Amino acid sequence: MTDKKDKYYYITTPIYYVNGAPHIGSSYTNIACDVLARFKRLDGYKVKFLTGTDEHGLKVKQAAEAKGVSPQAFTDEVAAMFEGALAPMNISNDDFIRTTEERHKKAAQALWQKLEEAGEIYLDKYAGWYAVRDEAYYTLDELIAGPDKDTMIAADSGAECKWVEEESYFFKLSEYTDKLLAYYEEHPEFIQPASRRNEVMSFVKGGLRDLSISRTTFDWGVPVPGNEKHVMYVWIDALTNYLTALGYPDTSSEEFQGFWNNAFHMVGKEITRFHCVYWPAFLMAAKLPLPKTVFAHGWLTVEGQKMSKSVGNVITPEELISRYGVDGARFVLLREIPFGNDGNFSHENSVNRINSDLANGLGNLAQRTLSMIAKNCEGKVPHHADFNEEDLAVLNDAYGVIESVRAGLDQFKFHEALQEIFRLVNAANGYIDAQAPWTLKKTDFTRMETVLYVLAETIRCLGILVQPVMPDSASKILDQVAVTEKARDFTCLTKEHALKVGTELPVPQGVFPRLELEEKAA
Ligand code: MSP
Repeated sequence: MTDKKDKYYYITTPIYYVNGAPHIGSSYTNIACDVLARFKRLDGYKVKFLTGTDEHGLKVKQAAEAKGVSPQAFTDEVAAMFEGALAPMNISNDDFIRTTEERHKKAAQALWQKLEEAGEIYLDKYAGWYAVRDEAYYTLDELIAGPDKDTMIAADSGAECKWVEEESYFFKLSEYTDKLLAYYEEHPEFIQPASRRNEVMSFVKGGLRDLSISRTTFDWGVPVPGNEKHVMYVWIDALTNYLTALGYPDTSSEEFQGFWNNAFHMVGKEITRFHCVYWPAFLMAAKLPLPKTVFAHGWLTVEGQKMSKSVGNVITPEELISRYGVDGARFVLLREIPFGNDGNFSHENSVNRINSDLANGLGNLAQRTLSMIAKNCEGKVPHHADFNEEDLAVLNDAYGVIESVRAGLDQFKFHEALQEIFRLVNAANGYIDAQAPWTLKKTDFTRMETVLYVLAETIRCLGILVQPVMPDSASKILDQVAVTEKARDFTCLTKEHALKVGTELPVPQGVFPRLELEEKAA
């Protein structure tokens, strides 16, 4: 839960490895964060929304080698693909960070020095199993036998591990076991959802070992200050990005303090250990406050299977947009899968969901109402008489639903927040059917005007409410009820901002086309 009096909100995605092109996995996280960022902006917060790319480490270096290009040329190319995938999905990030940037090198080295000054780093020898794919060290109890004697497999992720032995700096993570456990106890909101919190807590309860935080066998990384034979372990480098973007090592600015005290990290569930164990320990060691929440969401599968190049079921963001439109894509990803759980993406479910909620639900409500106003009320916001109980029930719902939407989003329950909004859509469609303005047109024209007014006003509120999830469609809806740009934030969800009788409305146009499964998504 954010503290509204602070009015600052800092939301981050993981920074993505640039070893391959973006697929809908990263779009999923980006969209979720974008919805939160847009929601908070409309709710009066100063928002900073950060995403970017994680460009160092052996995995990226090996991907560059496989292509026969230098790591820098390779990362420049792939980072541009990640950055380029943002605008087409309407991602409203305020900054895009690349770990190869100078500002980041400076921040990562400054954090390292803080840890060193605090006496939390020492030089020793590392000997153990390392998975390049996960850029992670594993202990024997986390491994199963591999295809040959030189290879082990990480039981959780399936990544291949090789034995490495080299001089390395270590962070005294073992000294943080109790401090972390105490922190998790006192701040149940720090790791969400609760299932992930339990996993992390039981891992930490097992006792922590000191963490190897530098490598000497390759040089594609941030040099360790004072000993350039070493580069930093890619995760200490990567995690620092969240500070870099706020201007670290300068912590004195209002921007740094406002945002860092209200920081929310969204991550996939496979990287909780890094964000919920290593990161808070580094921050404690550097005497910096911890982020408010790390929320770990589940994995997207496609038609029931893990997305993979070999299965041939990788969905690109472009494909999703071409089938469903940007707003349709954003909507189904968040409406179909309870956030936090693993979830399956299916074309059939997506088409059904878009048709039922958008085309038949919100789209039909707007189309029926606005075309009746165009035909019968000279295309102007109609007059209304006093509202009766049925009218007030719909209007009060339209003004009040923001409370439950806000509560849902503060708990990262996107699907529940959307359910609330579409409950209002259904209620409004129920109201139009029950009131039957097409019949009133012949029997009681004044009552018809009132009913159409109530519906247009409800559509105004719905347009405002769906902006975070479907910014383009919301803007079309709000244009059709002549709501100015300035009157679109959540403070306008009150009767004081209600549509003014007699306001001229543009010619109505359909916003959500119906999709055909056979043609579009067989
Ligand atoms: N570079 C690290 C993160 C460093 S953050 C300081 C990393 N990168 S990654 O490219 O592997 O991206 C992982 C993230 O991409 C996941 O945590 C998740 O946000 C997103 N996803 C990638 N594939 C996904 C799915 N199939 N489903 C859901 N999210 C997915 O780990």
